[in-house]
Amino acid sequence: MKLGIVILAAGQGTRMKSSLPKVLHLLAGRPLLAHVLETALSLQPEKTVVVYGHGGEQVRDAIDEPDVLWVEQSERLGTGHAVQQAMPLLQDMDKVLVLYGDVPLIRKESLQKLIGNAQSGVGLMTLTLKDPARYGRIQRDPSGKVQCIVEQKDASPEQLAIKEINTGIMLVDTPHLQQWLQELSPKNAQSEYYLTDIIAMAVRDGVDVHVTQPGNAVEAEGINDRPQLAFLERVLQRWQAEALMRDGVTLLDPARFDLRGNLAAGTDVTLDVNVIIEGQVVLGSGVSIGANTVLRNVQVADNVCIRENCVIEDAVIGTSSTIGPFSRIRPGTRLADGAHVGNFVEIKNSSIGPGSKINHLSYIGDTQMGAGVNIGAGTITCNYDGAYKHQTTIGDKAFIGSNAALVAPVCIGENATIGAGSVIAKDAAAGELAVARGKQITIKGWKRPVKEK
Ligand code: UD1
Ligand code: CA
Repeated sequence: MKLGIVILAAGQGTRMKSSLPKVLHLLAGRPLLAHVLETALSLQPEKTVVVYGHGGEQVRDAIDEPDVLWVEQSERLGTGHAVQQAMPLLQDMDKVLVLYGDVPLIRKESLQKLIGNAQSGVGLMTLTLKDPARYGRIQRDPSGKVQCIVEQKDASPEQLAIKEINTGIMLVDTPHLQQWLQELSPKNAQSEYYLTDIIAMAVRDGVDVHVTQPGNAVEAEGINDRPQLAFLERVLQRWQAEALMRDGVTLLDPARFDLRGNLAAGTDVTLDVNVIIEGQVVLGSGVSIGANTVLRNVQVADNVCIRENCVIEDAVIGTSSTIGPFSRIRPGTRLADGAHVGNFVEIKNSSIGPGSKINHLSYIGDTQMGAGVNIGAGTITCNYDGAYKHQTTIGDKAFIGSNAALVAPVCIGENATIGAGSVIAKDAAAGELAVARGKQITIKGWKRPVKEK
């Protein structure tokens, strides 16, 4: 069976009160449309078409999916009209599955069930709700056979009492879909071409309508405003947290964990509360992450301990390293095995050798650091001259005294020692002590000022 998928995404999303097109609002760090596309592509369709409207270029630019075809719906004349715009691209498909760009949590398993139930005829995904609200109602005859869908705005009081609603997701064979779309007319309360009218046409033409319900009602929930977006964010975060816990990750409180991207974790990984994981993050086995830590595109090896309140971005962390609390690791940083980074330390675009320690109050930027180096508290690499960035090189086992300023470009030799408080603007010789600071003097008889009575 050649399956074509059309994703309707031309809605303006006025209730979001935003300049961003609705389908680009983020859920778990990715645009709504990206979630729907991922699920759609997981069904391995022959073709996937997105119908976009206002803000079209912005939508296309934000979605990096080479296998997707794009069709513009310049006038928003209804869901039937939207599907019609995609039909020229879908003519050679056997069936067309209709999805919505603003219904992000629909799952592959539910769609597979819909497809399986509708081997022939039309597949329709419905839900039974306590409050059917503004949804289209599923009208059945006394024997229970589906007759048609009535939109809320066109419904009689009796029809409004129907609790079974149209999720909007449906599967139709292409020849019938093409024929029925031609027959749509906008003679209804909203003067729109309703895709839902094809159900009555199927019944008229003796085509079976097979109804499927999704595994979970939230899968069919659409997003129209920010409270709904926030609600589905919590649902998705809960699902993600549960999946991680089932895979063996300890989340001390799954309700206070956010994943905005992908996390791959080894065994016995523990995440304390308010950890945020963004982008692509890999955690080795035995890793523990302290409360309030943010990891963005980070690779962490086994047995690393990252303590509370750290922000780590675009970095690679070696086995058995320790970081934090209160460390900031910026892009381009590589920590080798067994490195220690302590509180109020910022590291950027630097490589830190095995076992080296930067324990307190330092800035290390554009630095190549060897193994077994000890950086004293308050050490700063002065990497910027106001116009250019310069490199600092620190050899193995160098010992940098507290509050040193290393003025780059500069090279500290292996096993060199730098006296505390030095301003090192010239290379320091290997194995020697370099001291560059004012000499201490004693001013005899000097008196501190005293307030007059
Ligand atoms: C539609 C269904 C309704 C169903 C509900 C589920 C119709 C006529 N009604 O109603 O039975 O219960 O969805 O949420 O189909 N869109 C376009 N172009 C258009 C119109 C809509 O791309 O011209 C897109 C929207 O961006 C959205 C989806 O289609 O993603 C549904 O549109 P919306 O206006 O929300 O449909 P409803 O009137 O809520
Ligand atoms: Ca809607």
